[in-house]
Amino acid sequence: MSELNKIALKILSNGKGILAADESNGTMTKRLESVNVPSSPENRLLFRETLFSSSGMKDFIGGVILYDETINQTSNLKQTIPELISESGAVPGIKVDTGAKILAGSHEEKITEGLDGLRERLKDYYKLGARFTKWRGVFNISDKYPSKLSIHSNAHALARYSALVQECGMVPIVEPEVLMDGDHAAETCFNKTSEVIQKCFEELLLHKIDLSGIILKPNMILAGTTSDKKISSEEVAKLTLKCLKENVPTDVPGIAFLSGGQTEVEATENLNLINKYNDTNFIMTYSYGRALQQSALKFWSKDINNTSGTQKVFNHRANMCTLAAQGKWSK
Ligand code: 13P
Repeated sequence: MSELNKIALKILSNGKGILAADESNGTMTKRLESVNVPSSPENRLLFRETLFSSSGMKDFIGGVILYDETINQTSNLKQTIPELISESGAVPGIKVDTGAKILAGSHEEKITEGLDGLRERLKDYYKLGARFTKWRGVFNISDKYPSKLSIHSNAHALARYSALVQECGMVPIVEPEVLMDGDHAAETCFNKTSEVIQKCFEELLLHKIDLSGIILKPNMILAGTTSDKKISSEEVAKLTLKCLKENVPTDVPGIAFLSGGQTEVEATENLNLINKYNDTNFIMTYSYGRALQQSALKFWSKDINNTSGTQKVFNHRANMCTLAAQGKWSK
């Protein structure tokens, strides 16, 4: 078993999942302002440290994705944040892309940037304790999109990123996110997601990626947010499994879904059914941002010093997600 495969399994095994706490300062500011908390470096750290030091970390969370600001911060007890996370048994990870910018040649689409100087940044993050990384490519659905250009260029960037990350001894999370926005049917999401994932693996293979040392972070197959043809959770689970079975090489050890704007309960219910019907060898778990933090953030915003109350809310959500990652959750 390769070292990279061992890291991936440590993050994903036994129903554990990933806490995606890597919101950029811009996104985190939106999240905090939505609950009327000023977005300062201290407040961003306080909320995150409250989650990272909760008792649920040990049982439910296998990895935490950090943002550059957080990986360089120090806890109340003067530990580094990666030390605090490692102490709970989870693996510290880091978002290394620098965001999605307008794609020249297709101005309504985006290309994720961050390859320049990446090798050097990765070495620094490794020294700080990171053992896995994240890069998100984003695709929107409409009549014309995602275009071949955006699918090709984002898949290429994901592969170049993955090669540099593995060279540095870390596990890349490969995240091609096909957004939920739009009025498209689930079938369209299925077709577009299949095309995107297929292209990603074509590029990953070209770039000689060890597939046993990556984690795929895809969207689930859903009808668009404003579609009038919503499908049941059973159908979401079945279509999602079909898409992954048809397009993901079996060497990949695990798949950790993003929540992408689903509510906490939807994201839990869908993951639970995916695991109930899972007839593959892939571990199917979560790498949720909003679907793990939303209720905790709301609770915390009422009294930012109520650490134990906030942790209780977070522990419950993480517990439900871990049950879902084993197909053992019920309403
Ligand atoms: P959500 O689960 O809120 O979609 O966030 C996960 C993530 O890391 C998106 O890149």
